[in-house]
Amino acid sequence: MRVFTTIAALRCYLAQCRSIEGTVGFVPTMGALHAGHESLMRRAKQENQWVIASIFVNPLQFGPAEDLTQYPRSLEADRDRCEAIGVDILFVPTPEELGIPAQGSAGVEVNKTLVVVPEALKSTLCGPARPGHFDGVATIVSKLFNLIQPDAAYFGQKDAQQLAIIQHFAKDLNFPIEIVGCPIVREPSGLALSSRNAYLTADQMTIASVLAQSLFKAEQQFKQGQHESKPLLDTVKHSIQKQTEIQIEYVELVNPVTLQPLDSITENGLLAIAAKIGKTRLIDNVLLRTRKPIMAIDGPAGAGKSTVTKQVAQTLGLFYLDTGAMYRAITWLVMNSGIAITDEPAIAELVGTCEIELTPEKVEINHQEITAAIRTPEVTANVSAIAAQAAVRKALVRQQREYGRRGGVVLEGRDIGTHVFPDAEVKVFLTATVEERSRRRQKDLERLGQPIPSLDELIETIAERDAKDSTRAIAPLKQALDAVAVVTDGMSIDEVVDRLVALYREQ
Ligand code: PAJ
Repeated sequence: MRVFTTIAALRCYLAQCRSIEGTVGFVPTMGALHAGHESLMRRAKQENQWVIASIFVNPLQFGPAEDLTQYPRSLEADRDRCEAIGVDILFVPTPEELGIPAQGSAGVEVNKTLVVVPEALKSTLCGPARPGHFDGVATIVSKLFNLIQPDAAYFGQKDAQQLAIIQHFAKDLNFPIEIVGCPIVREPSGLALSSRNAYLTADQMTIASVLAQSLFKAEQQFKQGQHESKPLLDTVKHSIQKQTEIQIEYVELVNPVTLQPLDSITENGLLAIAAKIGKTRLIDNVLLRTRKPIMAIDGPAGAGKSTVTKQVAQTLGLFYLDTGAMYRAITWLVMNSGIAITDEPAIAELVGTCEIELTPEKVEINHQEITAAIRTPEVTANVSAIAAQAAVRKALVRQQREYGRRGGVVLEGRDIGTHVFPDAEVKVFLTATVEERSRRRQKDLERLGQPIPSLDELIETIAERDAKDSTRAIAPLKQALDAVAVVTDGMSIDEVVDRLVALYREQ
């Protein structure tokens, strides 16, 4: 791991990394690292060739009366944690290096260009109590994005308002960076891990776990069908009020994207608390979703994913989102627009404005039905060249996520659980040993009456293809950390379907 404190060294090393193929994942932190931060780094490591973490206790996001000077600092231990996870670059700049005043200056005029977050996003939750805080966060994160130019950046759901604000500004300012939200890591007591937990005594730690417990109680109530705001908020408030040592700052139910208060939950709700125990301010939240679970099935070629996925969809009454059909639809559109398959900018222009409509019965693009037209040999011959283009993938992933918003979909691919729906409730990595897939391929060829290569030859070809699929720049094959691996050696299709259906129902 390389540790840099200057922008010059960081840029120089990054330029060297970029000459090697692979994506860059970035995890910004303020140090005093714990398992919550580590989970972001592991995720980044799993999804990228390079991982950069930063440690910077950012004065722009601390009010003059807040805890900037006392904020826990443990650089030596932090460095060891990063190294153990396999972080490639740790960036630890000083305020001076970043051109930022060293004193807590949230909400104070600093004679610097700042990123100003829209009022609507900071008028709820932590915004009112922390004037200037989110402008300070958005400014530092923009600066780090500009310096590092990562492909993806990882943030915790723990700071749900921060995550929503970063998602907004990355879009508003056209940063070509995927913002990935990661689940909250908790103590066995439920208490959300936080660097500020270091301020708590052992007794206060026990008391603090009531925050999470109260949220879990409301979550249970929600799962039993209570979708109205008031009773959910009351549950949280009543269970916290039993602990006189806790002073509630707010308990709110908001839309997790717009952060506006909700009277009831129709799709997604964010139930969030801030409270003080002694002088320590803690925050926590749970996401309440009405959507039916999404099932993401990834795995190598030849594992039988599409056959199994279709049957799983049928058995569970889920919508089978046929991503292959979407790539075929784009390919058809390109071919019928007279654009060369290699003219990537023209194709990017075309996909940016096209609309694909998928139902179990038909496929439409820009309101024209093309169900049969996408299955011709001409489309088949060109679809992988089109699917390998970054702009095509971006546009289609956006459309796939739109289909997933209401839930109840199942889809298969190589990076569905890691990239398209990282928050899918059920993730399966469907695989079989290379030997098994080679034997199956031999049987398929035999059925088709085609020449059958030897098992050794097939093993070599399939292993090569696996390696290529796992290292490709666009949509590499990855097993999500939270995916259940199902190795189908010796299993019939029906057995595999039964196993997947059971996994979905357990959820
Ligand atoms: P910091 O509080 O150090 O957190 C760094 C990242 O770790 C944030 O994305 C935060 O949400 C995530 N995180 C913290 N506790 C977590 C937990 N228990 N589970 C999962 N993720 C957790 O947030 C900041 O720093 C700063 O505002 C920053 C974004 C670095 C800008 O200065």
